[in-house]
Amino acid sequence: MATRNGGDGGRLFQVQVLASSEGRLLDQVIALGNNASQTLGFLPASVFRQAAHDQRLLVALQDERVIGYTFFGLPRQEVRLAHLCVDPAFRRQGVARRLVQELSERYHDRIGIILKCREDYAAHKMWPRLGFQRVKEVRGRAKTPSTLVVWFRDHGHPTLVSVAETNALLRVALDLNVFVDLHGAQSRPEAQESKALTADWLSGQLELRIMPELLREIDLLSRSNPTERKRQLLAAGSYQPLPVDASTAEKKAQQLTDYVREHQGIDLSSTAADRSDIQHLAEAATAGLHYFVTRDEGLISSLSSTSLAANAGRSSCVACVRSRPQPRSGNVG
Ligand SMILES: CC(C)(COP(=O)(O)OP(=O)(O)OC[C@H]1O[C@@H](n2cnc3c(N)ncnc32)[C@H](O)[C@@H]1OP(=O)(O)O)[C@@H](O)C(=O)NCCC(=O)NCCS
Repeated sequence: MATRNGGDGGRLFQVQVLASSEGRLLDQVIALGNNASQTLGFLPASVFRQAAHDQRLLVALQDERVIGYTFFGLPRQEVRLAHLCVDPAFRRQGVARRLVQELSERYHDRIGIILKCREDYAAHKMWPRLGFQRVKEVRGRAKTPSTLVVWFRDHGHPTLVSVAETNALLRVALDLNVFVDLHGAQSRPEAQESKALTADWLSGQLELRIMPELLREIDLLSRSNPTERKRQLLAAGSYQPLPVDASTAEKKAQQLTDYVREHQGIDLSSTAADRSDIQHLAEAATAGLHYFVTRDEGLISSLSSTSLAANAGRSSCVACVRSRPQPRSGNVG
């Protein structure tokens, strides 16, 4: 049984597998699921009972009351998330986050957690916040036309492609601003400096990589411009994906945030843009990349004067593709 804090100012709650003998708690799960059937769809009580029997229900409990649950399956090599549901009175307190983390911890030997969610549901915006990457879109089977997005939370296991030897001297993660310089429709004069990264003489020495956070950013930023979004996603598809363990990246992001707050007095958790930058760096460090190339001067000034290597457990650098000559670098972890 795992005990966690329920979020900002929240009270403690526990996360555990629901045993089929706990009929009273199972009834509460069924009631929660039925109340949310507008988004979750209706499932007969017998399906919940079978899930409890198969140990496929995780519940969050506070004072012996079910405040959230997840119903999942274990087909093939993955965890398939069928339901994630939190009592409306306990939402936005980190209950869903904790349930997903628990799934990742319990079944970390599997490749990751996969799910489908309608794009027009409120929860659509939550999945990237929980470390999921958008994999693809499929058509829903509902009478009214709908788009289902397939989401994946990576457990970071090596794949056949990722274990292939690299001869490059440096493996580098690209920030969105550099990626857009390389692949965006608009060509800014400053983009020349970013484009130098793709010079022929560097191939073999430099391996350019993109992280899941970059895909999330493309997804969000370009929504107002679907053509550009499509173009950038297509370009992103030409990069070899690297496995990034979402749980480790989350921990590193928290460590970085704490470290910068403590040593520089800067709160990098207060804006979505800063949180995204930290997530991006944490993913690069988790994937074992030692350089993060960005044009973001603010990010560099927050991090470059501070050695964070020990804090994040790996030595890495933040490098800047600047409009003025020499790149600047500093340790980030
Ligand atoms: C979706 C649901 C499970 C979220 O549960 P929750 O406990 O409130 O979520 P958390 O507090 O753990 O939030 C996790 C993250 O997602 C974000 N988030 C949660 N709900 C969100 C929403 N509706 N829209 C946008 N972001 C959301 C939170 O802000 C948080 O991000 P942050 O830590 O970066 O701030 C809950 O609203 C619910 O049960 N809805 C009905 C059932 C449903 O739609 N389930 C999903 C389909 S399977």
